[in-house]
Amino acid sequence: MHKHFINTENWAQSELSQLLVDANVLKNNPHNQLLKNKSFALLFLNPSMRTRTSFEVGIQQMGGVAVVLQPGKDAWGIEFNNNVVMDGDAEEHIKEVAAVLSTYVDAIAIRAFPKFISWEDDKQDKVINAFKKYANVPIINMETITHPCQELALMMTVKKHLGVVQNKKFLMTWTYHPKPLNTAVANSGILISSKFGMNVTLLCPNENYILDEKYIELATKNCESQGAIFTITHDIEEAYKDADFVYAKSWGALPFYGDPEKEWKQRRKFQHFMVDEHKMSMTNNAKFSHCLPLRRNIKATDAVMDADYCVAVEEAENRLHVQKAMMLSLFGEKL
Ligand code: CP
Repeated sequence: MHKHFINTENWAQSELSQLLVDANVLKNNPHNQLLKNKSFALLFLNPSMRTRTSFEVGIQQMGGVAVVLQPGKDAWGIEFNNNVVMDGDAEEHIKEVAAVLSTYVDAIAIRAFPKFISWEDDKQDKVINAFKKYANVPIINMETITHPCQELALMMTVKKHLGVVQNKKFLMTWTYHPKPLNTAVANSGILISSKFGMNVTLLCPNENYILDEKYIELATKNCESQGAIFTITHDIEEAYKDADFVYAKSWGALPFYGDPEKEWKQRRKFQHFMVDEHKMSMTNNAKFSHCLPLRRNIKATDAVMDADYCVAVEEAENRLHVQKAMMLSLFGEKL
């Protein structure tokens, strides 16, 4: 039994598969009292629609209580560095925040996006790791530099539509967006598809958009251990050809991290990576999805978003079911 849900790296495929089985049970029977007398602090350092709603509703559907806190907005700003003179905006230190919340709630869930100044700093995932260190209750990742809840929802959706996923072609495609966004969902997309033995293709405009080597190595190892193939390409046709599932996300180029103006000079040339009907026509009747939110006619066309093959809303719904299954698992509750 795992104490935390911070990344899927340390979860076996069989454990993740069981969460998906449980999620399907919860989809058909949403209400129970398995979290009765359990309370959760949901800390959002960044905006959310789906994550906040699905966690709050999911906890309520199982008899628990959720308290939403937005440090720096409706709760005090938090200092995460040790041995500093706290003469900036933060009013309290993570040591006290984690200790106090641990006396009130049974689990703490955190959304803390990177700061987009230094990848070397952001890739240490300091916020969630500080909560893990200083709290003594389970910690749940609601998106930091990975998005493991989205991973579960994605794989629940992929399995529903593809059935057996082993060696099916999963395309993780970069798509255009005017700003350099978090790599979390892309990191997660290649982690979960490779964990389930899919042949994973990462499509991005050029080598500057290749994801951090940690996630490339993990995905490559996952694939190799299951007789699957991990491929990186910058060729749109090669990538879409015969894909069984297309997953899109935009992210910033790591070599230009912290320098959005320089990155923009690259990014603006790649608007043609937007997902459109022509690209989808090259696939093996693939389903298309995106974690949402999505800017229409920037990341994907209206035609793609309105097509029968677009399962983005279904994936968003599945967030509710998989997170409920994951929370029950952290408390050792069986369905
Ligand atoms: N996909 C996702 O996490 O959505 P929100 O940012 O709205 O929570």
